[in-house]
Amino acid sequence: MRAVQVRAPASLDTLECVELPDPGAPGVGEIRVRIRASSLNYHDFAVVSGMTPAADGRIPMSDGAGEVLAVGEGVTEYAVGDQVVSTFFPDWLDGRTPDVGFSSVPGDGADGYACEIVVAKATAFTRAPVGYTPAQAATITCAGVTAWRALVVNGQVKAGDVVLVQGTGGVSIYALQIAKALGATVIATSSSAAKLERLKALGADYLINYQSEPKWGQAAKKLTGGVGVDHVVEIGGAGTMPQSIAACRKGGHIALIGILAGFAGPLPTATMMSRELRIIGLTVGSRSHQLDLIRAIEANGVKPVLDEHFPLERLGDAFRRQASGAHFGKIVVDI
Ligand SMILES: NC(=O)c1ccc[n+]([C@@H]2O[C@H](COP(=O)([O-])OP(=O)(O)OC[C@H]3O[C@@H](n4cnc5c(N)ncnc54)[C@H](OP(=O)(O)O)[C@@H]3O)[C@@H](O)[C@H]2O)c1
Repeated sequence: MRAVQVRAPASLDTLECVELPDPGAPGVGEIRVRIRASSLNYHDFAVVSGMTPAADGRIPMSDGAGEVLAVGEGVTEYAVGDQVVSTFFPDWLDGRTPDVGFSSVPGDGADGYACEIVVAKATAFTRAPVGYTPAQAATITCAGVTAWRALVVNGQVKAGDVVLVQGTGGVSIYALQIAKALGATVIATSSSAAKLERLKALGADYLINYQSEPKWGQAAKKLTGGVGVDHVVEIGGAGTMPQSIAACRKGGHIALIGILAGFAGPLPTATMMSRELRIIGLTVGSRSHQLDLIRAIEANGVKPVLDEHFPLERLGDAFRRQASGAHFGKIVVDI
């Protein structure tokens, strides 16, 4: 079977498309899946570009969707031909977050889905949303589940809440779509006027260009009549947190998700205390969160926003597009 591997030292230029032995028949509790699509996340970029260490020969990509080719003994959840999508933490089925880091995450501590065929535990997958293509399904593993957990599990967003989303990457656009499906008002930011227009078409109620309006936190607060937003989907990290804090209402919630604007930095801790902010860090979610997301997107007709498609052998080019920041939504890889 064909696969892409990361070489040491990792870089986009050394990603290698190779032929590997077929993984064979599924064992007890396993399924054999023909992977048809994957999608790019910033986490995958960190692995393939060498920002985070990866073993020589690691197969990258945390997201994988396709159809079941065979089921092993004891597997009752799937039948041959079923459409499935991978989970980010194959061993986190439900309940409390296990403290396992990224050791078992596909495409990081374990081999991922930049390949044609995998044999894995049946619980490392869920069913795909009904009516989704493999490329659409492959966007929920990381970006979709993260946005869901941020807003629904941790944020408990309700109709009428105001949600601020930053930029037009995979997590933020899913967050916009989920927030609108829940009946929230959405303030969306972007560095690009053209992308802001596309956000409007997706249902964003208010738009702010975070480059021409560097104090976008205060601008967002103004849009709420000076009260502040209920939730911020924080994908920038250190560089954007001060504005996110400025945007929040008293008792507001910041879902601390990303690091695009820095890994560490000073924060106005006295303001965070006196404004009674709830800042909740999170790393994707469980299999149970993924199943809940799937029910919700089926009930609401949410379809992911896909950017360009790339074939597996052009995975490096797909990541070059991500690095350029030109994308809007999810870049996908057809396998
Ligand atoms: N904690 C978790 O579980 C988790 C899960 C998924 C992702 N993440 C993290 O979340 C972040 C986003 O991931 P992604 O996969 O959605 O990335 P992505 O698709 O590559 O998103 C890139 C977009 O983010 C926007 N952006 C960049 N810098 C920004 C800034 N300073 N302010 C506002 N927007 C900015 C830009 O939008 P415009 O072009 O519109 O300006 C850019 O196009 C990454 O740091 C990633 O590591 C964390």
